[in-house]
Amino acid sequence: MNGRDLVRSMKVVGSVGAAQGLRTVRAAWRRRRVDAAGLPPRGAERARVPGPVQEVQPGPGGGVIRFSRSELCVTVAVNGAVFWGWDGATPEPSYALAGRCPEPDPRAVLEPDKEGGWRVVAERVTVVISRHGTVEVKTPGGVTLRRDLPPRWWEPIDGGAARWMQRSEVAADARFFGLGGRASGPRLKDGTYRLWNTDPGHAFGPGDDPLYITMPVQVVVADAATHLVFHDTSWDGTVTLREGEEGAGSGHDRAGTCEVRMDGGPLRCWVMVGTPARVLRAWAALTGAPALPPAWALGHHHARWGFGSEQEVRRIVSGYQERGLPLDAVHLDIDHFDEHQVFTVDQDAFPKLPQLAEDLRREGVRLVSIVDPAVKAAPGNAVYDSGTAEDAFVRDASGRPVRGVVWPGEAVFPDFTHARVRKWWAGLYEERFAQGFSGFWHDMNEPTSFAAFGEATLPRSARHSLEGRGGDHREAHNVYGLCMARAGYEGLLELAPQERPFVFSRSGWVGMQRYGGTWSGDVATGWPGLRASLSLVMGLGLCGVPYSGPDVGGFDGSPSPELYLRWFQLAAHLPLFRTHASLRAGRREPWEFGPEVLEHARVALVERRRLLPYFVTLAHLARRTGAPYVRPLWWSAPEDRTLRDCEDAFLLGDCLLVAPVLGPGADRRAVQLPRGRWYDTATGRAYEGPGQVLVDAPLSRVPVLARSGAVVPVRGDDGGLELDVWAPAPGRTGGGLVVPDAGDGEDEAEIERYVTRWEGRELVVELEGENGMIASPRPVRIRGLDEPSAQM
Ligand code: NOJ
Repeated sequence: MNGRDLVRSMKVVGSVGAAQGLRTVRAAWRRRRVDAAGLPPRGAERARVPGPVQEVQPGPGGGVIRFSRSELCVTVAVNGAVFWGWDGATPEPSYALAGRCPEPDPRAVLEPDKEGGWRVVAERVTVVISRHGTVEVKTPGGVTLRRDLPPRWWEPIDGGAARWMQRSEVAADARFFGLGGRASGPRLKDGTYRLWNTDPGHAFGPGDDPLYITMPVQVVVADAATHLVFHDTSWDGTVTLREGEEGAGSGHDRAGTCEVRMDGGPLRCWVMVGTPARVLRAWAALTGAPALPPAWALGHHHARWGFGSEQEVRRIVSGYQERGLPLDAVHLDIDHFDEHQVFTVDQDAFPKLPQLAEDLRREGVRLVSIVDPAVKAAPGNAVYDSGTAEDAFVRDASGRPVRGVVWPGEAVFPDFTHARVRKWWAGLYEERFAQGFSGFWHDMNEPTSFAAFGEATLPRSARHSLEGRGGDHREAHNVYGLCMARAGYEGLLELAPQERPFVFSRSGWVGMQRYGGTWSGDVATGWPGLRASLSLVMGLGLCGVPYSGPDVGGFDGSPSPELYLRWFQLAAHLPLFRTHASLRAGRREPWEFGPEVLEHARVALVERRRLLPYFVTLAHLARRTGAPYVRPLWWSAPEDRTLRDCEDAFLLGDCLLVAPVLGPGADRRAVQLPRGRWYDTATGRAYEGPGQVLVDAPLSRVPVLARSGAVVPVRGDDGGLELDVWAPAPGRTGGGLVVPDAGDGEDEAEIERYVTRWEGRELVVELEGENGMIASPRPVRIRGLDEPSAQM
C-alpha cells in the first residue's frame, strides 16, 4: 500500500463507517493475494509482426491472406460492413454481436493489388492489404479513410494471453467520437482513453476517465466519409488518439493517429463506412436493435438515494401533484432494501410497498427498483442461499467463491457470463413484480467491490464461465454489466411478456442497447458536470446506446438554482429525464429552488409531456434504424467542419435542434446552425443556416429550433396525437415520420409518413397512404408563418 492508497483507505473508513472501512482494507489485501496466486506471472515476452505475405486463399466476400507469422481473414458483408481478424480470429464468439453475422457479399472478391498486395473491391468500400499487412479502408472513389498498420504482438514465452498493439492513421481533417461514455467529449481530444469499466468512486467531472461504460468503438468523421471502427475484444486496453493537422494547402498534412493497445483477446475489427445514418444502421444490424422503452419511461422520473420511507415517497409524489407537475416514475434506491440486500424490502420503512405501488400506479406514476449484483454473503439471505445452491457465484482460481465488499458488507457476485446463472437471476425479478415495481435500475455492475487500495472490482484472476469457454475476469470484466442486463431483460420478458422490459444499467458494453439504456452515474454537481452529462449521452448514442440521461442537478452537493434549472432544461430534451441525488446531497425537487425555478421547471415538464409522442417516435426510429434520439449537429452534414467541432448543442431527431445553456449568467447564446431554415420554437423567428446566430436563452427556457418543413408529433390538450408542422421555406418541401404507439407491449406500430409542400400560398400536409397521398387525418398546427425573420 502506498501513501495515496493509505489516504484513500482512511477516507473510505471515514465515509462508510469503521466496520465497512475495515472490510474494504481486508478485501483489498484479499484481492491482491488471490491475484498473486491466480494470475500468471508476467515473464519474458517475444514480439511478433505478421511478416511478408506468403499466399492467399479467396473465400466468400474476401478471403484469407497468409503472412509468414500470422494470417488475416478479411470479409466484406452484403451491407458493406468490413470484418478482418488476425491469427485466425473470426467474428464469433462475441458478446457484441446480436446474432448471426451479416452474410458475406458474394460480389466482393480478393484480387491482386500493386506491389504484392491484395484488395477486396465491394460496392461501398474497398479494402487494400499490403504485402506486410497494412490494411486500408477506402471509399469507392479511392479516398483512404483509415490505414491500419501491421499489428504487433507480445507473447509470453511461457504461454498465455498475448498483448497487442495496432496503430492507425486517419485523414488530417478527421474528428474522433465514441469510446462509450466519456465525460470530456463528445469530440474526443488528443489523449489516452482506457477501456476498463470503472466506478470512479466519487462524483466525476470531465477530467475523470475511464467511467462506467467503455467501448472499443470509434466514430471517425472526415470530409470523405464517416466510419465506425470496432475492435472486438473485451480485455483491458487503451486507445490513444491524436487529431491530424492540415498543412493549409502546402500539401503537408499530418494524419490523425489512433493507437489501440490491448492486454489480450483477439485482434479483430469491424468497420462500417458511409453517412452517419448509414453507419449507425449497419452498426445496429450487427450489434442489435435498441430495446423499445415503455412510453412512461420517456416521461419524467424522480429518484433519490435516501427517501427512507413510504411517507416520504408519498410526500414527494403529492408535491408534484399539488403543483400540477407531470411525473411518470419514482425510483427507490438501496435504502428501501433490508440492510442493503438486493431483492429484499425494509419492512419497517416500507411496510406496504405493493400498496404504495398500486396507489402510485393509479395516479400514473410507476415505481422503479434499483438492483445491485452483489449478494450479501450471509446464510439465511434467501438470494445467497439459492445462489449458493445454484453454484451461481464467481470463484477464484483455487475454486473458492470470491468475496468482495459492497453496500450490504461482505458480498459475492453472480457470474452473469453463465446462461444458467442468468436464468436463476432472471427468476428473482418475480419478487420485484410482486412488490409492484415496473422498471429496473442496475447499479454497481462494473462490477464494483469497494477496496481501500488497488482496483475497486473483482480480482483479475476470478474465474468466469464465458458461456462455457472458461476464462477470467480480465476478459469478463467489461461484459459483466452487459450480461447482467441480459439476465434482467430476459427475465422481465418471461415474467411479464405483455410489457416492454424497462432496464437501465450503469455499466455495460457493446450491444447493451439490446436490453435497455443507461444513465450518467454519479456526475458531479457543477457546470462542468452539466457539460459532461451531454458528452456522455452523445457519445453513447454514437456507440449504439440511444437511451440515457444524467442525474439532474448532479449527484452530490447542492446545485445553485440556476444550475439546477439549466440541468433540468437540458435533461427535458434527453431520452432519460431523471432527477436523482446522493444520500448526503441537497434537495432536487423543482419546488426547492424558489418560485421562479419552479415556474420554469414546470414549463420544461409540460413541454416534455407535450413532446412525448415525438420521443416515442424517436424510440421506434432508434429501434428500426439505429439512429440515436440525440445526435451531434454534424449528423446530417458531416462535411461541415464547423459542426464537427460544435459540442454544446444537439439534434433531437430530425426535427429539433436543442441548444442548452451550459454556463452561468446567460440570457442568450450562440448557436451553430446546419444548412437550411430554422425556427426558434419559442418566438417563431426564422434563421437561415449554415452559420452562427445569437438566440435568446432567458432563464425561462433553453433555445430549441425546429427545422423548416418538420412534422413534430405532439400530445394535444385532450391527450390525442397532433402535428406541429413548421413551414418549409418558400418553394421547398418538408415532411416527417410519426410512429403512433400504444405505450407498451411489443406490437409493431405502423410508421406514418407525412409530406409538407406549398400549393400556391397554401401549405398542404399529407399522409402517404396505400393509394397515394391523403390529407392529414391528424390535427395539424402550422407554425412559422407570419413570424419575424432574423437577419444573419
Ligand atoms: C451508485 C449509483 O451511481 C447511485 O445512483 C446510487 O444512488 C448509489 N450507488 C446508491 O445505490
